[in-house]
Amino acid sequence: MKTNVNLQPYNSFGFDVVAKEFVEINEVNELQALIRRGTIKNKKVLILSGGNNVLFTKDSFDGLVILMNTKGIKTVADEGNEIVVRAQAGEDWPDFVKKMVAKGYHGIENLAHIPGKVGAAPVQNIGAYGMELKDSFLRCETINLETGRKRVFDNKECVFGYRTSIFKTLLRDQYIITSVDFLLKKNAPLNLDYGNIKSYLEQNGMENPSLQQLHDAICAIRDAKLPDVKQIGSCGSFFKNSVIRAEQLESLQKSYPNIPHYPEADGKVKVPAGWLIEHSGPSTGSGTASWKGWRDEHVGVYEKQALVLVHYGGGKGRDIVDLAQKIQASVEAKFGIRISPEVNFV
Ligand code: EPU
Repeated sequence: MKTNVNLQPYNSFGFDVVAKEFVEINEVNELQALIRRGTIKNKKVLILSGGNNVLFTKDSFDGLVILMNTKGIKTVADEGNEIVVRAQAGEDWPDFVKKMVAKGYHGIENLAHIPGKVGAAPVQNIGAYGMELKDSFLRCETINLETGRKRVFDNKECVFGYRTSIFKTLLRDQYIITSVDFLLKKNAPLNLDYGNIKSYLEQNGMENPSLQQLHDAICAIRDAKLPDVKQIGSCGSFFKNSVIRAEQLESLQKSYPNIPHYPEADGKVKVPAGWLIEHSGPSTGSGTASWKGWRDEHVGVYEKQALVLVHYGGGKGRDIVDLAQKIQASVEAKFGIRISPEVNFV
């Protein structure tokens, strides 16, 4: 265990934050030993994997940070068209997707190039381009932070929802995911329906792409829209898209006929928060400025995707919190919709 460790390399916003205690876990038994020795008892604990979805709001973390770094990918079942692959929590997510695609396994290709680690992916049920982690998630193995005992959660027990799971809600900070089993397919139709995938493929002469071509296309689409976290600090989408009632949409359409919206299963509609943010702005007097591309010295709203808040360096988590609050207030004032963050505040 180390003390007073700077977490700057371990959070994709790149904020300077000092952790009082820090331990890196390379084997699951190290974690169990730590728990059984009582090292974790009565401590404030933060489980970090890629640090791609966490916003540190203070300059220090007065507790123990556990960095999951366990590695390993193996096939645990192979029958007919189906294959079950187990990945350890510390495996890099985009690398894992790349490897599965190279083997010809279907099921996670649309989740290509999402920064992060395997162990964090189920926590917020990562999703992109019409696919979610839950679609290929079979089970995960976890360790109970209090007892050190193993527990397996199947898909249903994880209570997955839009960017959420039981690990983000009811059982928050109680279990550490140590490995995830994915149910993949050797042959399966590709999911090309999501908005700009189709148009990108057509423009590039790939109406019938291979699995590999689809993967590569998604990487290119993401690269064009989202910042590279190695260069500009960010957490991807900072806010969730908003789900509103159909009547609220109808009344908004009177003033904003072009408001994009997607139907939800329960009769409600999802409105992209990126659009709401782009069509709102800081109060400048003229009232016409957009948040999209807005920046001050240290933080801002990414110029190519308004849902992404960025840290240009030298700032504090507090600057992002302030900006997020201003954006929320202006979106609410204009559209009557309260957008909520997807990112975890610590
Ligand atoms: N839009 C704007 N302005 C913007 C951004 C978006 O008007 O600046 C509107 C456009 O009308 C666009 C619509 O929003 O058609 C949807 O935009 P996009 O397809 O870029 O997706 P998103 O809803 O902004 C979601 C996920 C992303 C994921 C993409 C692609 C959430 C919170 N975000 O973004 O996930 O990559 O779809 O599937 O659901 C993440 O979670 O970190 C993330 C990047």
